[in-house]
Amino acid sequence: MQVSPIKFEKFQSVEDADCQRRIIAARQKLGKRLVILGHHYQHESVYRHSDYTGDSLKLSRYASEVDAEYIVFLGVHFMAEVADILSRPDQIAILPDLAAGCSMADMANLAKVERSYRELNKVLNFDETITPITYINSAADLKAFCGEHGGIVCTSTNAPKILEWGFARREKVLFFPDQNLGRWSGYKMGIPLEQMPVWDPDLPMGGLTVEQIKNARILLWKGHCAVHQMFRLQNITQFRQQHPDGIVISHPESPFEVCQHSDYVGSTEFILKTVSEAAPDTKWLVGTELNLVSRLAEQMKPQGKLVQFMSHVVCECSTMARIDPQHLAWVLENLAEGNVVNQIKVPAHEAKLAKLTLDRMLEAS
Ligand code: 13P
Ligand code: SF4
Repeated sequence: MQVSPIKFEKFQSVEDADCQRRIIAARQKLGKRLVILGHHYQHESVYRHSDYTGDSLKLSRYASEVDAEYIVFLGVHFMAEVADILSRPDQIAILPDLAAGCSMADMANLAKVERSYRELNKVLNFDETITPITYINSAADLKAFCGEHGGIVCTSTNAPKILEWGFARREKVLFFPDQNLGRWSGYKMGIPLEQMPVWDPDLPMGGLTVEQIKNARILLWKGHCAVHQMFRLQNITQFRQQHPDGIVISHPESPFEVCQHSDYVGSTEFILKTVSEAAPDTKWLVGTELNLVSRLAEQMKPQGKLVQFMSHVVCECSTMARIDPQHLAWVLENLAEGNVVNQIKVPAHEAKLAKLTLDRMLEAS
């Protein structure tokens, strides 16, 4: 007999410690039928339950390789969509809180991208001259748009390589939704800043002249990450004054001048690897989300490494933080009872085109 799903309200006031016990019990019951993928920005209280952890690229690969019936994603909405798209049709992707979105991903939507496509088509033949590249931090329908128009997806790990892929096919790139990642990656390839103008989708013709569009190599969508936008060059200057031998490492979603003045720039996985493998007693300033930096700081203490967060204000990804022990316990207990709650299912026509672009990316990187 089918039992109706347990309502989330029943978990709202359950203490964290109790949730931890219930998560462990439900996991034991589910065994190999369940795999939990955790992004590095997740809070320790749920991250500790991950079977696999990683940045967006690594987690995409896991999603395409794991065999479990249920893939529970500790991350944000677009990541669970990717898990659904790359897993087999009989596997089920679950996001413990459906409100865990990505504010940057929301800065581009299909209506705006299609309008931009039509406007750019007035100046040049889009499908012959522009490769659309979407950062993986975007909704599935934008990945599908790229699939339909000869484009591709990138992550913070592979963006320069994916830009090369785009330029090998067409002379220009429309890069969305993160202007910072696009600008930094283009700059590393040697593209002058004046050939990477910002395309503002809320202005007619992106707020650009016909000449600017014709001269552009990369049109950078006007979008950014509110968390990384908080990091300032001043934070780096102060750190270097206090620690002349200190090392600065940042995520490429950070503002351009922060990336420019960092010693290393890379994905969350790259940051973890670089700091973990560094010599003992080194001092690091890290420009990425607070949960990752706090965890890394604790892990590095026994090696005498100082790991300092780049901002003086709290820069936590508030949407990532929605995945808490209460939501995880709720979805797992439901699964253990045979009820699927919070499934992420991308419509088949979108999933097909989006998969094409994700497969292109996995192959190119
Ligand atoms: P990574 O792919 O580097 O983990 O980045 C994802 C993200 O959302 C960073 O804000
Ligand atoms: Fe999105 Fe920024 Fe949060 Fe990453 S840190 S998930 S880009 S809002």
